[in-house]
Amino acid sequence: MAFAREVHVRSYPDAAVGPEHFEVVEVPVPTPAEGEVLVRNTWTSVDPGMRLRLRPHAPEGYFTAFELGRPMDGVITLGEVVESRAEGFAVGDTVWHPFGWRTHAVVPAGVELMNGAATLRRLDVTDVEPQWYLGPLGAMGLTAWSGLAVVDALKGGETLWVSAAAGAVGSLVAQIGVLLGHRVLASAGTDAKVAWLRDEVGVAGAFNHRTQPLAPTLRELAPEGIDVYFDNVGGDHLEAALDAMAMHGRIALCGSVSDYEGEAVGPRNIFLATAKHLTLQGFRGSLHIGVMEEMQRRLGGWLRSGELVQRETVYSGLEQAPRAMADMLAGRTVGKTLVRLA
Ligand SMILES: NC(=O)c1ccc[n+]([C@@H]2O[C@H](COP(=O)([O-])OP(=O)(O)OC[C@H]3O[C@@H](n4cnc5c(N)ncnc54)[C@H](OP(=O)(O)O)[C@@H]3O)[C@@H](O)[C@H]2O)c1
Repeated sequence: MAFAREVHVRSYPDAAVGPEHFEVVEVPVPTPAEGEVLVRNTWTSVDPGMRLRLRPHAPEGYFTAFELGRPMDGVITLGEVVESRAEGFAVGDTVWHPFGWRTHAVVPAGVELMNGAATLRRLDVTDVEPQWYLGPLGAMGLTAWSGLAVVDALKGGETLWVSAAAGAVGSLVAQIGVLLGHRVLASAGTDAKVAWLRDEVGVAGAFNHRTQPLAPTLRELAPEGIDVYFDNVGGDHLEAALDAMAMHGRIALCGSVSDYEGEAVGPRNIFLATAKHLTLQGFRGSLHIGVMEEMQRRLGGWLRSGELVQRETVYSGLEQAPRAMADMLAGRTVGKTLVRLA
């Protein structure tokens, strides 16, 4: 019998996640039924949001918690079809689906998965790197693009601050912001990340949030105020943004990674949203599937022309997935964090 391997959650972390919270389990390679395909996974994703699901109950309205002792569903993954019992899919097709952190998956065709963001889909990989579909041509691109759209920031010409700006989503927002003609300010957690943003992306101002104080630095970089803040961090960053926003500014609440592993700290100056007539708009990329095509066309064009680059940190082998998650949350990865499975 042929064997597959999958990562199971062994226990929920109380604080920082680590390899001890997972185990790799050997199981028989699953068999597809009528209407399903068997996929040999090649690349799987590592996302901060997965940390919110490593607890008995995920936040209300979000994807559900990962179950203990079970494979982790709802993790966008690429693979190659090795057996097809579904019309429209052939052996050799590159596809995406949401059954990640395992070597093989049986996937139903024509079933909406993860709000449509990971419904089984054949991918055109003729002139792109396949793993870009886990980055700029997939959920990360959708999050960056729809997040800018919901705060009306696709038109350019404003002062835009993006936090965690060297990460998977942030690195796209920073680059798209520059390409759209915004005056982009970017923060990240190492000097090397800041140097990339300043010297290669060409943002107007970049700083290290671990060594420079947020509020005075923003005041210096944006004396007239920030028009748009793309918030990947929450907590102290959101509080600093409220201080630094211009009148009628807009904040895209993408995530609050600073509180995923510890106690949530809310902004103490929320009245500034009232005083400055700000808009704070939460959003999830997967609920904006309608802009996927437009996003892929625009970002695909910039990727092919070399104006947009995908930064990525790649871990090799399924066993490395837990370490990749811990490293990403601690800021030790750059760009999209990926695990190469084959
Ligand atoms: N709304 C949606 O649909 C959606 C979809 C995908 C992701 N997200 C959210 O977007 C955010 C970024 O996700 P991503 O996939 O692009 O991850 P990422 O930025 O590649 O990785 C997370 C980064 O957050 C930074 N970070 C961690 N703790 C921090 C802290 N206490 N203060 C400041 N920065 C901290 C670290 O970078 P530094 O070295 O720069 O500190 C870390 O590398 C997360 O909040 C995530 O939940 C939302």
